[in-house]
Amino acid sequence: MTPARGGVDVPGAKRETQSPMKKTNFSLSEVYRLLEPGPVVLLTTARAGRANVMPMSWHLMMEFEPPLVGCVVSNRNYSFASLKATRQCVINIPTVELAEKVVACGNTSGRSVDKFKAFGLTPVPAACVKAPLIAECYASLECKVRDAKLVTKYNFFILEVVQAWIDPARKRFRTIHHQGEGEFMVAGRTLHLPSPKTSLGGK
Ligand SMILES: Cc1cc2nc3c(=O)[nH]c(=O)nc-3n(C[C@H](O)[C@H](O)[C@H](O)COP(=O)(O)O)c2cc1C
Repeated sequence: MTPARGGVDVPGAKRETQSPMKKTNFSLSEVYRLLEPGPVVLLTTARAGRANVMPMSWHLMMEFEPPLVGCVVSNRNYSFASLKATRQCVINIPTVELAEKVVACGNTSGRSVDKFKAFGLTPVPAACVKAPLIAECYASLECKVRDAKLVTKYNFFILEVVQAWIDPARKRFRTIHHQGEGEFMVAGRTLHLPSPKTSLGGK
């Protein structure tokens, strides 16, 4: 690759055509495909007695305890209004066995489809919120909206996990990670390496 026009000359960097830099330009509209975190989760909400399921991959951990999770829920989605109004939801973590159902939930809207019925998912009452857990998922995190300051500008909700559930019988769980364009990476091997206790920002 030749350096981009207007690029700065970095001392020691090679400018000849035999550059060790093999990268080519990458479209800005595709950047999310490189950084998209994971796993894909199924966000459940419930409003006026109607429960709904929405796949979501734009989320991030923000705090250890109480666990805070940031997420983007588009205001074009039916789930947005439910989450905004009720300030409650459940983040359910599916494994690869549920991949086709996850995609089906992402191709339909709760406005017109009861996705639990349509895709054979089982709602289970939660302990602290009105939105249901999904029985088939490996883990479920009951959440309350902790901060909605960035919702109007970015559709960004900060959630606090108030109750977490996990299936202890499942030792190996292979989550799915969205790479865009219908592609998913399946979590694979686990590496056990000696490391200090995770620490961010002196916490
Ligand atoms: C793998 C995957 C990940 C997605 N991630 C998000 C996301 O992070 N935020 C979002 O608003 N929509 C996301 N979507 C799109 C919604 O799931 C989709 O628009 C869905 O139909 C909305 O459902 P609803 O109208 O019932 O709320 C994703 C879809 C898929 C398939």
